[in-house]
Amino acid sequence: MDTKILTETVSKLIAKPKGILAIDESISTCDARFEKLGIPTTIEKRQEYRELLVTTPEIEKYVSGFITFDETIKQSTKNGTPFHQVLKEKGILVGIKVDQGLKDFPDSPIEKMTIGLEGLTERLKEYKNLGASFAKWREAITIGDGLPTEACLITNAQSLAKYAKLCQEENIVPMVEPEVLIDGKHSIEQCLEITAYNLDILFTELKKENVFIPGTILKTSMVLAGKDHFPQSQVGEVAEQTLKCLKEHVPLDIGGIVFLSGGQDDETSVLHLNAMHQTGELPWPLTFSYGRAIQNDTLVSFAKNPEDVTTAQTLLLKNAEKCSLASVGQYK
Ligand code: 13P
Repeated sequence: MDTKILTETVSKLIAKPKGILAIDESISTCDARFEKLGIPTTIEKRQEYRELLVTTPEIEKYVSGFITFDETIKQSTKNGTPFHQVLKEKGILVGIKVDQGLKDFPDSPIEKMTIGLEGLTERLKEYKNLGASFAKWREAITIGDGLPTEACLITNAQSLAKYAKLCQEENIVPMVEPEVLIDGKHSIEQCLEITAYNLDILFTELKKENVFIPGTILKTSMVLAGKDHFPQSQVGEVAEQTLKCLKEHVPLDIGGIVFLSGGQDDETSVLHLNAMHQTGELPWPLTFSYGRAIQNDTLVSFAKNPEDVTTAQTLLLKNAEKCSLASVGQYK
């Protein structure tokens, strides 16, 4: 492990006023989104769509890194330039989702555990040769009746810690993503309690594995009420509770913290990030790593008129710019 390489990569990723664009939807998730909009679910269409994203002019003004998926990192533009090369030429760092999805947690099958440790070192070496300098592994936590269970949180945190350690051994920055799902009727208070509890478990496991914390990025969900809770959380309340949680439960030497949008309304996810930055100086770098909140409009445009690449790319750029402004508290 070379701590200098890791901290340099982190610095580039969290450089202001930028954030990260997640285009790492698995084939099934991408296809499900395509299907909803009537886009054919073929490898050619996924290539066409991802080409549009990676070639968006000036996206590098707002985005420091793209998180890709196994299929995407190996794809090229129609002219034959590998996507990872297109990104590199723009000065954008290439990331890769390396977990292999979710499976039922044996002791509590409603819950999920993330898999993908088998053969991970070999895959990391392969991705590194394709230009990847950071990786992502996501756990998904459900809040519900008696959920999450401590056993499930510990199992997932142990996998995240092992993954992070293996990444750092290859000088790849691990992004650890403990996503507390927005689905459900839970209150913001419940979300705060579970998110805080899980962060404590996660950082305990990361320390046990001797993960180098300044060379690690936390990708987290915000603290907010479930999407079926009435009333929904107010913007100020989300900013306040999320910052409270992070300040109390994340080590100060973390490389950086980034948010997923997690199914929040696009505009709301921007307002939340903006409100956090308007509270003043924060103890760690804090920015976005959104997927849907940046891509949604572009995908709708692509579905309506796939030939009109300019409109689709303009929408992507506009949403990335909004996120960028929010990442320094200047979105109006
Ligand atoms: P969302 O912003 O859509 O939650 O996506 C984040 C992410 O990491 C996608 O893989």
